[in-house]
Amino acid sequence: MKAVIPAAGWGVRFLPLTKEQPKEMLPVIDKPVIQYVVEEAVRAGIEDIMIITGRHKRTIEDHFDRSFELEAVLNNGNRQEHLQKIKDLCELANLHFIRQKEPRGLADAVYQARQHVGDQPFAVMLGDTIHVSEVPVVGQLMDVHARTGLSVIAAERVPVDKVKDYGVLDAVSIGERLYEVRDLVEKPRPEEAPSDLCIAGTYVLTPAIFDCIRHIEPGHNGELQLTDALRLLREREGLLAWEFIGRRYDIGDIPGWIRSQFELALKHPVYGKELRSFLRDLNQREGLF
Ligand code: G1P
Repeated sequence: MKAVIPAAGWGVRFLPLTKEQPKEMLPVIDKPVIQYVVEEAVRAGIEDIMIITGRHKRTIEDHFDRSFELEAVLNNGNRQEHLQKIKDLCELANLHFIRQKEPRGLADAVYQARQHVGDQPFAVMLGDTIHVSEVPVVGQLMDVHARTGLSVIAAERVPVDKVKDYGVLDAVSIGERLYEVRDLVEKPRPEEAPSDLCIAGTYVLTPAIFDCIRHIEPGHNGELQLTDALRLLREREGLLAWEFIGRRYDIGDIPGWIRSQFELALKHPVYGKELRSFLRDLNQREGLF
């Protein structure tokens, strides 16, 4: 299966940080967010990945490319451990890049991959979402798709005041963690949300989604919304949701990014211990929490 990673948005919620730097390149400990996404795809056995970028996103391509100068410096300085890390990075997967010419929305970004994807089911993994899970979340969806032949989206329950930031599902349970989707709404007001079950940013879709994207009108925010195309896909073929097993970090805004940094750093095998003791000292000194 191929994966498509849309990474073309402006990252407005991070300005001025993302004026020149793609939000997908924001660091989480020692890696940019998008590297976690690519690594998750690779862990699930996906080897072919198309990243949808835009004109201000060139550093994403550079990050996954070889840097002979840096390799020479590390080699001469006998820093083999670091050398291996950056060499492995270039070998991770077969990466393809295409630019979305205008910021017309997530559905339009996914549409850019139609020729590359062809007539096969494929995964969509948002470039600003990190998961920590034993089985990769995209792999969990691939299993559901293999069992059912249907498109399936990762779902997660969120607090009521958060539904306005997500696509929200009207869905009925048809098995453990598995739902049949009845309807989807992009970023509803809390009082209009059909539930607290949200679209979590990972999808396995049949190629019929491309024709659905062709038939939608601009929706929320005047953009072509993937959620609206999924509505059409549901009418035509049916659609499932899978409440995934694992933890999700949404790097869609600054608080989400800071939370990810904290939690992943505190649990980190190398840096965790020092950070935990720093926070204990800080709290003793200043009583912050
Ligand atoms: C996108 C989707 C939304 C989904 C969310 C998950 O929104 O449009 O349906 O719930 O990702 O993170 P965005 O975060 O790009 O505004």
